[in-house]
Amino acid sequence: MTKRVAILISGGGSNMVALGRSMTGDHPARPVLVLSNDPQAGGLAKAADMGIPVQAIDHKPFGKDRAAFEAALHDALLAAQPDIICLAGFMRILGADFITSWDGRILNIHPSLLPKYRGLHTHARALEAGDTHHGCTVHQVTAALDDGPVLGQARMAVLPGDTPATLAQRLLALEHALYPAVLRRFAAGDLRPVMLDG
Ligand code: GRF
Repeated sequence: MTKRVAILISGGGSNMVALGRSMTGDHPARPVLVLSNDPQAGGLAKAADMGIPVQAIDHKPFGKDRAAFEAALHDALLAAQPDIICLAGFMRILGADFITSWDGRILNIHPSLLPKYRGLHTHARALEAGDTHHGCTVHQVTAALDDGPVLGQARMAVLPGDTPATLAQRLLALEHALYPAVLRRFAAGDLRPVMLDG
């Protein structure tokens, strides 16, 4: 049975594009929805160009009422009936109730070698620490931020003169290889981690 995938974005959606392009041929999954919490997110137009249904639920009108925003998100996802939800540059922190209601079916990509550098500014923190290697991680989402079982990691060397911007740029290429590789395995029910070296 082909798995149905919903992709949640907040911005340009380059990971979403990589995921969408990978789900062809004998891939065990197909994209059924790209949803953003920002109606201006550049990734929405890219998804529409790929023929993927798109939707925006602006989180701003909900103010501090995160539960109400997540209820709207939940209803939109219920309508799309995804088997898998991929967070791809989705910058809203999801609450425990929401995560429990989609338990084990939400994946996220984070731009660090977890458990190092949960949260934001991962590239600057890796440089400040003088790390020789940096990378990204795809994990199953649990109620703890940037935690949950690791399904894949991609590593790369930190080069002399690297800045947060150059690290971010070089890492994106690795993210675009790692996330589709993990999704292909996960959609086939194979939880063996994918390990890549850049
Ligand atoms: C990526 O670096 C991802 O790891 C992080 O947000 C960035 C989103 O990039 N969570 P894009 O929107 O997929 O281009």
